[in-house]
Amino acid sequence: MTIHIGAKPGDIAQTVLMPGDPYRAKWAAETFLTAPRLVNEVRGMLGFTGTWRGNEVTIHGSGMGMPSLSIYANELIRDYGAKTLIRIGSCGGMQNSVGIRDVIVAMTASSVSTPSRGIFRELNFAPCADWSLLRAAVTAAEAKGVTTHVGGIYSADVFYDERPDLNEQMTRHGILGVEMEAAELYNVAARHGVRALAVLTVSDHLLTGEALPSEDREKSFGDMVEIALESAFA
Ligand code: ADE
Repeated sequence: MTIHIGAKPGDIAQTVLMPGDPYRAKWAAETFLTAPRLVNEVRGMLGFTGTWRGNEVTIHGSGMGMPSLSIYANELIRDYGAKTLIRIGSCGGMQNSVGIRDVIVAMTASSVSTPSRGIFRELNFAPCADWSLLRAAVTAAEAKGVTTHVGGIYSADVFYDERPDLNEQMTRHGILGVEMEAAELYNVAARHGVRALAVLTVSDHLLTGEALPSEDREKSFGDMVEIALESAFA
Protein backbone atom coordinates (compact mmCIF):
# COMPACT_ATOMS: atom_id res chain seq x y z
CA MET A 1 0.00 0.00 0.00
CA THR A 2 1.08 3.56 -0.65
CA ILE A 3 -0.29 6.82 0.68
CA HIS A 4 -2.83 7.10 -2.16
CA ILE A 5 -3.18 3.55 -3.50
CA GLY A 6 -4.52 0.70 -1.38
CA ALA A 7 -3.54 -2.09 -3.78
CA LYS A 8 -1.49 -4.97 -2.42
CA PRO A 9 1.91 -5.84 -3.94
CA GLY A 10 1.26 -7.68 -7.20
CA ASP A 11 -2.21 -6.16 -7.62
CA ILE A 12 -1.08 -3.62 -10.22
CA ALA A 13 -0.13 -4.73 -13.74
CA GLN A 14 2.95 -3.48 -15.56
CA THR A 15 0.60 -1.87 -18.11
CA VAL A 16 -1.65 0.86 -16.73
CA LEU A 17 -4.30 2.86 -18.61
CA MET A 18 -5.10 6.15 -16.90
CA PRO A 19 -8.37 7.98 -17.57
CA GLY A 20 -8.90 11.15 -15.55
CA ASP A 21 -12.31 10.04 -14.27
CA PRO A 22 -12.38 7.06 -11.85
CA TYR A 23 -15.84 6.05 -13.11
CA ARG A 24 -14.43 5.88 -16.62
CA ALA A 25 -11.80 3.48 -15.22
CA LYS A 26 -14.65 1.33 -13.85
CA TRP A 27 -16.57 1.42 -17.14
CA ALA A 28 -13.48 0.61 -19.23
CA ALA A 29 -12.42 -2.25 -16.95
CA GLU A 30 -15.93 -3.76 -16.93
CA THR A 31 -16.31 -3.32 -20.70
CA PHE A 32 -12.90 -4.39 -22.02
CA LEU A 33 -11.12 -6.51 -19.39
CA THR A 34 -11.68 -10.13 -18.48
CA ALA A 35 -12.27 -10.73 -14.75
CA PRO A 36 -11.64 -7.14 -13.63
CA ARG A 37 -11.21 -6.72 -9.89
CA LEU A 38 -11.16 -3.54 -7.83
CA VAL A 39 -7.62 -2.95 -6.53
CA ASN A 40 -7.90 0.61 -5.25
CA GLU A 41 -10.61 2.91 -3.96
CA VAL A 42 -8.67 5.25 -1.67
CA ARG A 43 -10.29 8.72 -1.93
CA GLY A 44 -12.66 7.29 -4.53
CA MET A 45 -9.85 6.99 -7.08
CA LEU A 46 -10.83 3.64 -8.54
CA GLY A 47 -8.34 1.19 -10.01
CA PHE A 48 -9.13 -2.22 -11.56
CA THR A 49 -6.90 -5.04 -12.72
CA GLY A 50 -7.91 -7.72 -15.20
CA THR A 51 -6.68 -9.21 -18.44
CA TRP A 52 -7.00 -8.25 -22.07
CA ARG A 53 -6.19 -10.97 -24.64
CA GLY A 54 -4.38 -12.78 -21.85
CA ASN A 55 -2.27 -9.76 -20.86
CA GLU A 56 -2.57 -8.27 -17.37
CA VAL A 57 -3.78 -4.65 -17.40
CA THR A 58 -4.67 -2.10 -14.72
CA ILE A 59 -7.05 0.76 -15.44
CA HIS A 60 -6.61 3.44 -12.79
CA GLY A 61 -7.99 6.98 -12.55
CA SER A 62 -5.53 9.87 -12.53
CA GLY A 63 -7.83 12.64 -11.34
CA MET A 64 -7.84 16.02 -13.04
CA GLY A 65 -4.71 18.12 -13.48
CA MET A 66 -1.01 17.41 -13.31
CA PRO A 67 -0.58 17.47 -9.50
CA SER A 68 -3.15 14.68 -9.16
CA LEU A 69 -1.81 12.62 -12.04
CA SER A 70 1.74 13.05 -10.71
CA ILE A 71 0.85 11.41 -7.38
CA TYR A 72 -0.66 8.33 -9.02
CA ALA A 73 1.97 7.99 -11.76
CA ASN A 74 4.80 8.24 -9.22
CA GLU A 75 3.29 5.62 -6.92
CA LEU A 76 2.30 3.27 -9.76
CA ILE A 77 5.84 3.36 -11.17
CA ARG A 78 7.98 3.56 -8.03
CA ASP A 79 5.98 1.36 -5.66
CA TYR A 80 4.12 -1.01 -7.97
CA GLY A 81 6.54 -1.38 -10.90
CA ALA A 82 4.34 0.00 -13.72
CA LYS A 83 6.32 0.05 -16.97
CA THR A 84 3.81 1.32 -19.55
CA LEU A 85 1.38 4.14 -18.71
CA ILE A 86 -1.15 5.40 -21.23
CA ARG A 87 -3.38 8.35 -20.51
CA ILE A 88 -6.79 8.09 -22.17
CA GLY A 89 -8.75 11.30 -21.96
CA SER A 90 -10.38 14.22 -23.67
CA CYS A 91 -9.01 17.49 -24.96
CA GLY A 92 -10.11 20.74 -26.51
CA GLY A 93 -9.28 21.14 -30.21
CA MET A 94 -6.97 24.05 -31.09
CA GLN A 95 -6.68 23.81 -34.89
CA ASN A 96 -9.31 24.14 -37.60
CA SER A 97 -8.01 20.89 -39.11
CA VAL A 98 -8.94 19.04 -35.89
CA GLY A 99 -12.59 18.04 -35.50
CA ILE A 100 -14.80 16.95 -32.62
CA ARG A 101 -14.45 13.13 -32.05
CA ASP A 102 -11.05 13.02 -33.77
CA VAL A 103 -8.25 11.27 -31.93
CA ILE A 104 -5.03 13.08 -31.05
CA VAL A 105 -1.93 11.04 -30.27
CA ALA A 106 0.31 13.39 -28.30
CA MET A 107 3.89 13.37 -29.55
CA THR A 108 4.90 16.19 -27.17
CA ALA A 109 3.21 18.13 -24.38
CA SER A 110 3.98 21.82 -23.83
CA SER A 111 3.11 23.54 -20.56
CA VAL A 112 3.47 26.73 -18.56
CA SER A 113 4.47 24.69 -15.55
CA THR A 114 4.37 21.12 -14.25
CA PRO A 115 4.93 19.53 -10.85
CA SER A 116 8.43 18.68 -12.17
CA ARG A 117 9.32 22.35 -12.49
CA GLY A 118 11.17 22.21 -9.17
CA ILE A 119 13.61 19.75 -10.71
CA PHE A 120 14.05 21.37 -14.12
CA ARG A 121 14.10 25.01 -12.90
CA GLU A 122 15.60 27.09 -15.75
CA LEU A 123 15.65 24.12 -18.12
CA ASN A 124 12.83 23.83 -20.64
CA PHE A 125 12.64 20.04 -20.73
CA ALA A 126 10.63 18.74 -23.71
CA PRO A 127 8.20 16.06 -22.48
CA CYS A 128 7.62 13.55 -25.28
CA ALA A 129 5.83 10.26 -25.85
CA ASP A 130 7.43 6.86 -26.13
CA TRP A 131 8.02 6.23 -29.83
CA SER A 132 7.06 2.55 -29.89
CA LEU A 133 3.73 3.29 -28.17
CA LEU A 134 3.07 6.31 -30.36
CA ARG A 135 3.69 4.37 -33.56
CA ALA A 136 1.50 1.47 -32.44
CA ALA A 137 -1.32 3.81 -31.35
CA VAL A 138 -1.37 5.55 -34.73
CA THR A 139 -1.50 2.18 -36.50
CA ALA A 140 -4.34 1.00 -34.23
CA ALA A 141 -6.32 4.23 -34.61
CA GLU A 142 -5.98 4.27 -38.39
CA ALA A 143 -7.03 0.60 -38.58
CA LYS A 144 -10.23 1.57 -36.74
CA GLY A 145 -10.92 4.26 -39.30
CA VAL A 146 -10.79 7.01 -36.68
CA THR A 147 -9.55 10.39 -37.92
CA THR A 148 -6.21 10.67 -36.15
CA HIS A 149 -3.78 13.53 -35.66
CA VAL A 150 -0.24 13.18 -34.33
CA GLY A 151 1.61 16.16 -32.91
CA GLY A 152 2.07 18.49 -29.98
CA ILE A 153 -0.54 19.19 -27.34
CA TYR A 154 -0.72 21.73 -24.50
CA SER A 155 -1.09 20.60 -20.87
CA ALA A 156 -2.71 23.57 -19.15
CA ASP A 157 -2.87 24.30 -15.42
CA VAL A 158 -6.34 25.81 -15.58
CA PHE A 159 -9.57 24.81 -17.31
CA TYR A 160 -11.16 28.24 -16.89
CA ASP A 161 -8.43 30.17 -18.61
CA GLU A 162 -8.16 33.92 -17.93
CA ARG A 163 -5.26 34.22 -20.42
CA PRO A 164 -6.68 33.43 -23.88
CA ASP A 165 -3.47 34.80 -25.41
CA LEU A 166 -1.65 31.61 -24.33
CA ASN A 167 -4.14 29.46 -26.20
CA GLU A 168 -3.74 31.74 -29.22
CA GLN A 169 0.03 31.23 -29.14
CA MET A 170 -0.42 27.48 -28.90
CA THR A 171 -2.73 27.50 -31.94
CA ARG A 172 -0.26 29.71 -33.79
CA HIS A 173 2.51 27.21 -33.06
CA GLY A 174 0.57 24.23 -34.41
CA ILE A 175 -0.50 22.69 -31.11
CA LEU A 176 -3.41 20.33 -31.77
CA GLY A 177 -5.31 20.34 -28.48
CA VAL A 178 -5.39 21.29 -24.82
CA GLU A 179 -5.80 19.01 -21.81
CA MET A 180 -4.37 19.05 -18.28
CA GLU A 181 -2.25 15.95 -17.55
CA ALA A 182 0.03 14.61 -20.29
CA ALA A 183 3.14 16.78 -19.77
CA GLU A 184 3.65 15.54 -16.22
CA LEU A 185 2.96 11.94 -17.23
CA TYR A 186 5.74 12.24 -19.82
CA ASN A 187 8.08 13.90 -17.28
CA VAL A 188 7.59 11.24 -14.62
CA ALA A 189 7.91 8.41 -17.15
CA ALA A 190 11.15 9.86 -18.53
CA ARG A 191 12.57 10.21 -15.01
CA HIS A 192 11.94 6.54 -14.27
CA GLY A 193 12.77 5.10 -17.69
CA VAL A 194 9.29 3.77 -18.45
CA ARG A 195 7.00 4.17 -21.47
CA ALA A 196 4.21 6.75 -21.62
CA LEU A 197 1.66 7.99 -24.13
CA ALA A 198 -1.47 10.14 -24.16
CA VAL A 199 -4.32 9.24 -26.52
CA LEU A 200 -7.05 11.89 -26.51
CA THR A 201 -10.42 12.44 -28.14
CA VAL A 202 -11.49 15.94 -29.00
CA SER A 203 -14.51 16.66 -26.77
CA ASP A 204 -14.77 20.41 -27.36
CA HIS A 205 -13.24 22.99 -29.65
CA LEU A 206 -11.66 26.26 -28.65
CA LEU A 207 -11.96 27.83 -32.12
CA THR A 208 -15.47 26.71 -33.08
CA GLY A 209 -17.10 26.42 -29.64
CA GLU A 210 -18.49 22.97 -30.57
CA ALA A 211 -18.78 20.28 -27.90
CA LEU A 212 -19.31 16.51 -28.11
CA PRO A 213 -22.84 15.57 -27.01
CA SER A 214 -22.68 13.47 -23.84
CA GLU A 215 -24.33 10.46 -25.56
CA ASP A 216 -21.37 10.32 -28.00
CA ARG A 217 -18.71 10.39 -25.31
CA GLU A 218 -18.89 6.70 -24.41
CA LYS A 219 -18.26 5.56 -27.99
CA SER A 220 -15.26 7.90 -28.38
CA PHE A 221 -13.91 6.81 -25.02
CA GLY A 222 -14.30 3.13 -25.96
CA ASP A 223 -12.31 3.68 -29.17
CA MET A 224 -9.50 5.20 -27.12
CA VAL A 225 -9.42 2.30 -24.67
CA GLU A 226 -9.04 -0.14 -27.57
CA ILE A 227 -6.35 1.97 -29.22
CA ALA A 228 -4.44 2.17 -25.93
CA LEU A 229 -4.71 -1.59 -25.29
CA GLU A 230 -3.62 -2.46 -28.82
CA SER A 231 -0.64 -0.12 -28.65
CA ALA A 232 0.49 -1.41 -25.23
CA PHE A 233 0.70 -4.98 -26.50
CA ALA A 234 1.65 -4.40 -30.17
N1 ADE B 1 -10.12 18.73 -21.52
C1 ADE B 1 -11.12 18.66 -22.42
N2 ADE B 1 -11.36 19.87 -22.94
C2 ADE B 1 -10.49 20.73 -22.35
C3 ADE B 1 -10.26 22.10 -22.45
N3 ADE B 1 -10.98 22.83 -23.29
N4 ADE B 1 -9.29 22.65 -21.68
C4 ADE B 1 -8.59 21.89 -20.84
N5 ADE B 1 -8.76 20.58 -20.71
C5 ADE B 1 -9.70 20.00 -21.45
